[in-house]
Amino acid sequence: MGDHDHDSSDFLTDKSAKIFVAGHRGLVGSAIVRKLQSLGFTNLVLRSHSELDLTRQSDVDSFFAAEKPRFVILVAAKVGGIHANNTYPADFIAINLQIQTNVIDSSFRHGVKKLLFLGSSCIYPKLAPQPIPEKCTAHWALRTYE
Ligand SMILES: NC(=O)c1ccc[n+]([C@@H]2O[C@H](COP(=O)([O-])OP(=O)(O)OC[C@H]3O[C@@H](n4cnc5c(N)ncnc54)[C@H](OP(=O)(O)O)[C@@H]3O)[C@@H](O)[C@H]2O)c1
Repeated sequence: MGDHDHDSSDFLTDKSAKIFVAGHRGLVGSAIVRKLQSLGFTNLVLRSHSELDLTRQSDVDSFFAAEKPRFVILVAAKVGGIHANNTYPADFIAINLQIQTNVIDSSFRHGVKKLLFLGSSCIYPKLAPQPIPEKCTAHWALRTYE
């Protein structure tokens, strides 16, 4: 990122590289941490929400300045189901934009080599039978809820 180096050949191949997994206690983040650990990665940097609130820009920047991770995997987000997203759309987008902007900006400023961002919305097959069979998730037209 910071040095505009587009060579991804060493992305996640150096087992000692410092990797910050943002949102490591979540559904996706905890699975990613388990996978990285099982693959032998030894230098994961992890902060719980209470240790580092990613909506706080100055705290995020101080963290990056101190830790200087080489890679960042961003899976921290305010996440809810369809009802929560529909009820509080402004809260969801405001908080998630803060998290994303802070982490991406600090990654750029502090020399992170690669950032993987799994940002997405709630995505479901639009016209699938209910309850949704698992096989439909990959083949049916999708509808997003933001
Ligand atoms: N689940 C999926 O199948 C899936 C698929 C593709 C992409 N995604 C995307 O991946 C991301 C994570 O999804 P998920 O299902 O893993 O959600 P999740 O289980 O709710 O995990 C989100 C994590 O982010 C943390 N977090 C939230 N706000 C934070 C903040 N202000 N500061 C620091 N940490 C914060 C949460 O900590 P606390 O719980 O302590 O707040 C939690 O550990 C979302 O953007 C989602 O759209 C999910």
